[in-house]
Amino acid sequence: MKQKINIAIDGYSSCGKSTVAKAIAKELNYVYVDTGAMYRAMTLYALQHGYIAVNGTLDGEALEKALDLVLINFKYNFDTGVIETFLNGQNVEKEIRSLQVSKHVSKISDVKAVRLKLVKLQKRMAETKGVVMDGRDIGTVVIPDAELKFFMTADSKVRAKRRYDELKFMGVETTMEEVLLNVNSRDEYDTKRANDPLRQASDAIVIDNSNLTIEEQFQFVMGHVLKKTGAPESIS
Ligand code: DC
Repeated sequence: MKQKINIAIDGYSSCGKSTVAKAIAKELNYVYVDTGAMYRAMTLYALQHGYIAVNGTLDGEALEKALDLVLINFKYNFDTGVIETFLNGQNVEKEIRSLQVSKHVSKISDVKAVRLKLVKLQKRMAETKGVVMDGRDIGTVVIPDAELKFFMTADSKVRAKRRYDELKFMGVETTMEEVLLNVNSRDEYDTKRANDPLRQASDAIVIDNSNLTIEEQFQFVMGHVLKKTGAPESIS
């Protein structure tokens, strides 16, 4: 059987990493891992258990003490074809995409103990290869030895519009201004935070998808996969 590889996709908020990652994983029959969903689930836990005060202040020490009580995993929904996120046995796929979670997630993802726990889990998921993982630190910290690394970016207004459309589709009430503000502030926080900030790995291939269709991005990534592996996994 053809040797499986790991593919890391990092980049800014809402630039379509997961759309491309899911399509590539499906094509190759690989496992898709949405690491942002794990930080989002942790944020939901912190909100539900009062570790984030009404004024937005995080009690990081208390959250750290409770980390062993947090179980995050994924399950494939055979009816919808969606990989859903579970928090302590509860399906939280919809809740973790809310704007409230988006507002606090950067803060939670800067807690060192949170990162240690989630990175450890992610490394384990990638051990057997055949993983397409997206996030902010995949190519630099989680799987620095990934055979293929991509760094995705796009104009922030284009990204905010995509996110706004996504939220609207999910029935979430919001405005373009609010979404753009969130996208910009998360980028700022994610690139400047102390722990594992968003950085482009030196060996990552950059994709600016401001003017690219999903199909074009898919073909671009697949082109690199084929160059690396020689032939599509699905026909090997
Ligand atoms: O990919 P996303 O927008 O759903 O991610 C939500 C947040 O989680 C993002 O603002 C930063 C954080 N994150 C992270 O710190 N490291 C990752 N590997 C993935 C996400």
